Amino acid sequence: MDQQSKVAVIGAGVMGEALIAALISSGVNPDRITISEKREERAQELVAKYAIKVAPVSANVADADALLLVVKPQDMATVLEDVKGSINPKAVVITFAAGKKISFIEQGLGTGNPVVRVMPNTPTLVGAGMAAISLGAGVSAKQSEFVSGFLAATGKVIQVSEDLQDAVTATSGSGPAYFFRFVEAMVDGAKALGLSDADATTLTIQTIVGAAKLLDESGKSATTLRENVTSPNGTTAAALASFESHQLGDVVTQAMKAARDRSQELA
Ligand SMILES: NC(=O)c1ccc[n+]([C@@H]2O[C@H](COP(=O)([O-])OP(=O)(O)OC[C@H]3O[C@@H](n4cnc5c(N)ncnc54)[C@H](OP(=O)(O)O)[C@@H]3O)[C@@H](O)[C@H]2O)c1
Repeated sequence: MDQQSKVAVIGAGVMGEALIAALISSGVNPDRITISEKREERAQELVAKYAIKVAPVSANVADADALLLVVKPQDMATVLEDVKGSINPKAVVITFAAGKKISFIEQGLGTGNPVVRVMPNTPTLVGAGMAAISLGAGVSAKQSEFVSGFLAATGKVIQVSEDLQDAVTATSGSGPAYFFRFVEAMVDGAKALGLSDADATTLTIQTIVGAAKLLDESGKSATTLRENVTSPNGTTAAALASFESHQLGDVVTQAMKAARDRSQELA
């Protein structure tokens, strides 16, 4: 597999579009990308925007080297039915549907095609995503490199064994919402201290963006950066002591276990 490989994208919604953009930035020629999408208007919008092609599922998958399945989990069984009759037997199948196991895709197809499961997250939509991939049986080194290569254009990629995908879901999948919840709480906290809604929002968002950038770019750990801004008996120390008195660490760990357990139940 290489940048001349033909790629079929099934389902060109929000995540599908982010992946099309990533494929193109990783060097895949747009005329090697063909989408199959239920909504004709949406398909035409993406054809015009990225100079890609459009085709019905059966024609699209017949000569594709890689299939990206980017439909909602509840639509996956129907898509597998559409795909299995005409899929190129050498194609790698890459699934992005939350909670759908590799064995579900393998059994739904029954064609023996190798399957890669990917758990992306919403910051993928702005090029700052976190994706974890798991490889099914028979995925070649070249196919795995191809997947990691185009996902690198959406942010960062790691590989995990499939039994850890529920833990990944609880960390990076649901994780953005944890930070959004924290922002909501800080905005409320700032307003309770007398700041306007607009100022509370600006102060909080710029603080979380700046803290994330510092964490990413300074090469220092979260612990070191936290200690650097915490003078003994100072203001930050007072806030952190309040967090500790409410066992913030336990609260977060428990929440993540709840997310992991729910992910296992849904699968
Ligand atoms: N969005 C995220 O940030 C995110 C994060 C992690 C994982 N994911 C995963 O990514 C997948 C896609 O999510 P999304 O947010 O991009 O969903 P989406 O916006 O609903 O996109 C899916 C698209 O596929 C179309 N579709 C459904 N069945 C089809 C079929 N048989 N043939 C061709 N097209 C079909 C849908 O059309 P209709 O609308 O007409 O049904 C829709 O346009 C999901 O499985 C989700 O679990 C997404």
